[in-house]
Amino acid sequence: MRVLSGIQPTGPFHWGNYFGAVRQYIDLQHGNEAYYFIANLHALTTVRDPEKLRGYTLEAAIELLALGLNPERTTLFVQSDVPEVSELCWLLMTGAPMGLLERCHAYKEKKAKGLPADAGLFTYPVLMAADILAYDADVVPVGEDQVQHIEVCRDLARSFNHHFGEVFVIPQAKVLAHAARVPGTDGEKMSKSYNNTIDIFEEPKAMRKKVMRMTTDSRPMEEPKAPESDHLYQLYSLFAGDADREEMAALYRRGGFGYGEVKKALADAAEQFFAEPLARRAELKAHPERIEEILADGASAARRKASQVLHRAQKACGVSR
Ligand code: TRP
Repeated sequence: MRVLSGIQPTGPFHWGNYFGAVRQYIDLQHGNEAYYFIANLHALTTVRDPEKLRGYTLEAAIELLALGLNPERTTLFVQSDVPEVSELCWLLMTGAPMGLLERCHAYKEKKAKGLPADAGLFTYPVLMAADILAYDADVVPVGEDQVQHIEVCRDLARSFNHHFGEVFVIPQAKVLAHAARVPGTDGEKMSKSYNNTIDIFEEPKAMRKKVMRMTTDSRPMEEPKAPESDHLYQLYSLFAGDADREEMAALYRRGGFGYGEVKKALADAAEQFFAEPLARRAELKAHPERIEEILADGASAARRKASQVLHRAQKACGVSR
């Protein structure tokens, strides 16, 4: 199967990004043809500082590689290095119903808050559809929040095919079910917009500090409680092995423990979990020329595929001679 996904470079990746998306990318590189890209054109709808955007883009590549993305197995590239996608985007834009885009949440939420939205945000799902269709992707691993955009992609592809003939492969979203909830430091869903994130590559000391300051359940700790309902346990169970997880669950059910102990166990587990990637990241940072080479190779492989699909689409709708 051909797998594809994109991730926006809007800052360092946090635990929620890892358990919600990145972990899947890494698993899916085995046994599939995988394309992963850094969606800098999408990030441009929010990051309006060129130095920042350039820096985040490179950092995203480094982090993905450090976390285990293998450039020998996958095509890793930067979205804007494949101009064919932007051309395909226009072909899809014609025939994209306004009503369909008006219902998309990114735009709808901004508008509901009375904030001004630009055309880039409004047409964001169309660019995303072009990203996916340009590589004949079968499967798109994404977080829950992107499922609506995959639906839009399927709609646009079906209607193009209906009108112009079988041009596009209809892709399917793949959501990791048990990754749906990664709580942040306040117990709400971990998200940059809630200011409750812990970064994957946070220095262990800083990470520990954030964990120790997390909000805790208001029920007294003497009381036995269901582990699944507590956000500290939810986070711990993402990092811990089966045996440790069971032991912690038993502690919750028994009661009479301190949240300080749980936090300490959580920080230890997280530190151990990301220790190897942290070392790998330092190594990669020391060789920026190697990253550039990986991204350049990725871009040329991606362009080869995307230009075939673009040509197919152009021919079908009559804009090529
Ligand atoms: N919009 C996605 C996000 O914010 C990123 C993205 C852009 C993407 N293009 C894509 C994801 C294509 C999957 C496929 O997470």
